[in-house]
Amino acid sequence: MDALLSVRDLTVSLPGRAGSIDLVRSISFELHSGAVHALVGESGAGKTLTARAILGLLPRGCEARGQILLNGSDLLQLPESQLRAIRGRRIAMVFQQPDQHLNPSMRVGTQIEEVLRVHLSLDRDGARRRTAELLALVELPERSAARAFPHELSGGMKQRVMIALAIACGPDILIADEPTTALDARVQAQIMKLLDRIRREVCTAVLFISHDLALVGRVADEVSVMYCGRIVEHASARALFECAHHPYTQRLIASTPDPAKRGRPLASIPGTVPDSGKVPDGCAFAPRCPLAGERCRLETPALRTTETGRRAACHFAEAVMEGCLLDR
Ligand SMILES: Nc1ncnc2c1ncn2[C@@H]1O[C@H](COP(=O)(O)OP(=O)(O)OP(=O)(O)O)[C@@H](O)[C@H]1O
Ligand code: SF4
Ligand SMILES: [Mg+2]
Repeated sequence: MDALLSVRDLTVSLPGRAGSIDLVRSISFELHSGAVHALVGESGAGKTLTARAILGLLPRGCEARGQILLNGSDLLQLPESQLRAIRGRRIAMVFQQPDQHLNPSMRVGTQIEEVLRVHLSLDRDGARRRTAELLALVELPERSAARAFPHELSGGMKQRVMIALAIACGPDILIADEPTTALDARVQAQIMKLLDRIRREVCTAVLFISHDLALVGRVADEVSVMYCGRIVEHASARALFECAHHPYTQRLIASTPDPAKRGRPLASIPGTVPDSGKVPDGCAFAPRCPLAGERCRLETPALRTTETGRRAACHFAEAVMEGCLLDR
């Protein structure tokens, strides 16, 4: 199946006086119609910068190179005027903190109507009708939610408004960056259910960003695991949880709460993620990896297809895989 979005060799760097620091390092992945592709990894892995590069909204000073192909057209080569037309209409984003993205002094209904009028050129009545439909779609009481100011809504309701705004123009791709991290478990489950329904009814592809592997396992079709700006493993969600081929992924899975293992202590990954300016040569995971050897400290492992047909960036992925099979 042709990819809707194809990210190829994307590098995001931050030039400075002491040289340039690569924050995202030559990553490639694809988004397919109707599928959820998750980017997962600890804090600082480069997940949000990847999303921002796709939207053409990198922080000041950061530079992107590589290719981001949307139906064959490279977003990194488009002028800002054309990107503006793509943002919201073709690719939309749901952020972690709705408060930072909603206008506190404008009623919710007016904010959605404005998006519809600007992007879809709807007249006042058309925008009002569509706003009511969108609020109903995200399961908010249409009239009272439209009249409310953001501070009058709960965290879960604000995130529903963000989702209504994101899908207002029927985008092809929805990027959800930690959309439920700030919410309690009950509301988190409701929002995930809503996102899944929206994916089926409105959006064709979702890039789901999270550090929560348990959540990713419930919603994703494909998973790319990121560490220090690189993708270190890529697999279908099912294959990844059955048998991870990268030591980092294995430890991420082992450190994820699992109801089946209740009562047993939760494993943790020793050490910390290095700062982006201090990523060691060779394999970036080597200082935390129990399998690290001389080769790992000298040679950066490429993301390669293993003997079992999986994609992992580890010199010893085949041995890691055998260990995983023995563990079962
Ligand atoms: N504006 C910026 N200027 C300099 N460095 C930045 C900037 N934004 C992010 N970084 C650095 O780039 C790296 C990747 O950041 P990013 O926000 O993409 O991580 P993340 O995977 O989304 O983490 P989190 O789970 O904490 O959201 C981090 O080391 C971060 O410190
Ligand atoms: S390449 Fe070496 S250090 Fe890196 S994950 Fe594999 S075994 Fe561990
Ligand atoms: Mg982030």
